[in-house]
Amino acid sequence: MAIERTFSIIKPDATARNLTGAVNAVIEKAGLRIVAQKRIRMTKEQAETFYAVHKARPFFGELVDFMTSGPVVVQVLEGEGAVSKYRDVMGATDPSKAADGTIRKLYAKSIGENSAHGSDAPETAAIEIAQFFSGNEIVG
Ligand code: RTP
Ligand code: MG
Repeated sequence: MAIERTFSIIKPDATARNLTGAVNAVIEKAGLRIVAQKRIRMTKEQAETFYAVHKARPFFGELVDFMTSGPVVVQVLEGEGAVSKYRDVMGATDPSKAADGTIRKLYAKSIGENSAHGSDAPETAAIEIAQFFSGNEIVG
């Protein structure tokens, strides 16, 4: 499998509990490299754009409120098959269904406040990375 990049967000429930380093330790232990990272407070517009695919879903307003409720850490992760690997490392959306050792099993509070985001395909990864990083901020 080829070296690829994926986009990650450490969500507000995790930054609030001072878990940035703990989440990063799981990422690095899985063999993914953090090649870009910054802590930001998402604006409502940024969150709405980022999750536009979920605009019609009943949880959209709640999701945007949550993602703008506190700081997040946006990241670019690099490695062999990084997109699907990071989905495995995060675990299922609902933490009660997530496998042992995954970020969501270890740290998520609920299906909404679930500590991490990871891109779902290489194409969406490229779009998501470009929303938050310029090329010279990514150093592999
Ligand atoms: P993400 O995009 O954040 O990596 O999560 P995902 O692919 O595992 O899940 P997705 O279906 O894309 O949902 C995006 C985020 O919306 C929130 N959510 N809340 N209350 C609910 O039923 C519900 N369902 C989804 C979660 O924060 C989820 O990660
Ligand atoms: Mg998703």
